[in-house]
Amino acid sequence: MSYTEGMLRDEALKGKTILITGGGTGLGRSMGLYFLKLGAKLVITSRKLDVLEATAKEMEKETGGKVLPLSCDVRDIDQVEKMWADALAHYGKIDVVLNNAAGNFISPTERLSTNAFNTVLDIVLKGTSNVTLTAGKSWIQAKQPGTFLNIVTTYAWTGSGYVVPSAAAKAGVLAITRSLAVEWAKYKIRSNAIAPGPFPTEGAWSRLLPGDLVKKFDPAKKVPVGRVGDHQELANIAAYLVSDFSAYVNGEVITIDGGEWLMGAGEFNNLDMIPQELWDMMEASRGKKG
Ligand code: HXC
Ligand code: NAP
Repeated sequence: MSYTEGMLRDEALKGKTILITGGGTGLGRSMGLYFLKLGAKLVITSRKLDVLEATAKEMEKETGGKVLPLSCDVRDIDQVEKMWADALAHYGKIDVVLNNAAGNFISPTERLSTNAFNTVLDIVLKGTSNVTLTAGKSWIQAKQPGTFLNIVTTYAWTGSGYVVPSAAAKAGVLAITRSLAVEWAKYKIRSNAIAPGPFPTEGAWSRLLPGDLVKKFDPAKKVPVGRVGDHQELANIAAYLVSDFSAYVNGEVITIDGGEWLMGAGEFNNLDMIPQELWDMMEASRGKKG
C-alpha cells in the first residue's frame, strides 16, 4: 500500500454531486478525478471553458462518470449565481462545494499594483465568499444538508512575505471555514479545510517559481520528509472530508505538507545542519567535565 493509491472504498461517494471551483486544472482536477472514481458526479467551473470542456471529456473517458463543465469567474456574483442555477438545473441537487480556485503572485509587496493586490484578494477571498453564500443560502432554503471543503495554505496562520495578498485572503477563507462550521451546523452544513504544502502543479510552479527559480528554491528541500506532495495523497484527504465518513469532523483544517511549516517554526530545527562528528565532540567534552 502507498500514498500514491486511492484510500477510500469503491462507491464511497456514490449519490453525491460535487462542485469544484478551479476544477479544470491542477489539484482541483486531481481531487475531482478521484471523486469520480469513487462514484460522485461533478461540476467543474473556472473562467476558461475550453480547458474545462477538455478536462471533462478526459475525466469521463477515464472513469465513465458524469462531469458538467461550466464557465464562471468567481469574483462576479452574477456569474456565480447563474453557474449555481445551471448546475442545479442539470443535476437537481449539489451536495458538496470544493472552494479551490485561486490566484497568486510571488512578488515584493511594494512592487504590486493596487489592482494586482485586489485581484488575488478578489479571486481567493471574495470568490470563496461568493460561492459559499450562494450555495449556503440555496441549501438552507431547500432544507438540504451540504458540505464545504476549502483549500487554504499553511501560511494562512503564519502569514508569509512575498505572497501577502494570498496570505491575507487565505486567512480570511480559514476564518470563513471555522465560523460557518459553527453557525451553519444547525442546517446540517459542515465546513472543513485542507492546507497543502508544496504540490507540483503547472499553475503554482510556473507562476510562483518561474524559470530557474524552481532549481534555486527546490521546494522539496524545505520539507522534513524530503519530497513534495503527490496529488493522490491530497485527493485521499479531500475525499474523506467530503464523504459521510467524516460526518463528525467540522471546522477542522488538515495540514498536508510533510512537516514543512513546522520546520520553519521550531527555534532549533536548523541544528539539522550540525554533523554527527560535532555532536560527538560536544558529548565527549561534556563527559570530561563530568
Ligand atoms: C505581479 C501581476 C502579475 C505578476 C499580473 N499582475 N501578473 N503582478 N506579478 N506575476 C497584475 C497585472 O499587471 C494587473 O495589474 C493585475 O495583476 C491583474 O492582472 P490580470 O492579468 O488582468 O488578471 P486576471 O486576468 O484577472 O488573471 C488572474 C491572475 C492569473 C491571478 C493574474 O495569474 C491566474 O489566472 N492565476 C491563477 C493561477 C494561479 O495563480 N495559481 C497558483 C495558485 S497556488 P495592473 O495594475 O497592471 O492592472 C497558491 C498557493 C501557493 O495559491 C503555495 C505554493 C507552495
Ligand atoms: P491552478 O491549477 O493554477 O489552479 C487554480 C485554478 O483556479 C485554475 O483552474 C483557474 O482556472 C482557477 N481560477 C483562477 N482564477 C479564477 C477566477 N477568477 N474564477 C474562477 N476560477 C479561477 O493551481 P493549483 O496549484 O492546482 O491550486 C489549487 C488550489 O490549491 C489553490 O487554492 C491554491 O491556493 C492551493 N494550493 C496549492 C499549492 C500547491 O503547491 N500547488 C499549495 C498550497 C495551496 P481558470 O484560469 O480557467 O479560471
